[in-house]
Amino acid sequence: MELINGKEIQELTFKEITNDVASLREKGVEPCLAVIIVGSDPASRVYVNNKKKACERVGIKSLEYALPEETTTDELLDLIRKLNADDSVNGILCQLPVPKQINKQAVLDTISPEKDVDCFHPVNVGKLSLGRAELLPCTPAGVIRMLDVAGVEIEGKRAVVIGRSDIVGKPMGIMLMERNATVTVCHSKTRDLSSITKQADILVCTVGKPKLVTSDMVKEGAVVIDVGINRNGEGKLCGDVDFDDVAPHCSKITPVPGGVGPMTITMLMKNTVTAARNQNNIK
Ligand code: GUN
Repeated sequence: MELINGKEIQELTFKEITNDVASLREKGVEPCLAVIIVGSDPASRVYVNNKKKACERVGIKSLEYALPEETTTDELLDLIRKLNADDSVNGILCQLPVPKQINKQAVLDTISPEKDVDCFHPVNVGKLSLGRAELLPCTPAGVIRMLDVAGVEIEGKRAVVIGRSDIVGKPMGIMLMERNATVTVCHSKTRDLSSITKQADILVCTVGKPKLVTSDMVKEGAVVIDVGINRNGEGKLCGDVDFDDVAPHCSKITPVPGGVGPMTITMLMKNTVTAARNQNNIK
């Protein structure tokens, strides 16, 4: 069994992105990401700080817009339209969740598709499903990157995704299909889950339930990717996979923490560079 180390792959990828940013700066382009946070959710604050730190690390300029909890949809949409129109801003993201009075769908639909570094806009989701994506959903793109760096062949393999969220499960299925895997997406209504997961050469779990995946659900020698981030009874970070039970049966597996987690921000940086390149017609 081999661990797929997200921190190491992040380092490797950050080095590439740092070089890409440097070459854009030589051409007079300063990649810039605008991050919007509404309210004071502590987890969101940590995520936003980490995104700003990652920008600094690779040389991307970051702008933070911290809006009060009671912000209205119209106020937020006004800010987004202003950032859409600002040529010096290449990427825009609004940290989720937003407070309940805000129309989340309107927010995601208003961010210009060219600047939508989360890849949440319907146009970008549509392009992804047609194999024409330029910006990629960050977490699934991070998983693909990990499989590639770890030398896992995807083409022709049986891939099973557990979870069908708009942010991870669905686009993960699409991206694995795009790489010519045979893909099954399972969810809460799936019958006899383990009979399906046992066929997986590549098993991706993105549900948010500790110990959902146990060794009796995994084929000997499978590659297991754990996207879950949960806290167990003792308050310790854990994934969806019962790691100690499953790991001995895998050829490769991602740990939690230190697996997929670091890759989401990494691919956000990559999208910001792609957006800056595209907006300036640089190949
Ligand atoms: N909240 C949790 N994950 C994400 C993400 O990937 N992007 C944004 N904008 N908000 C999130």
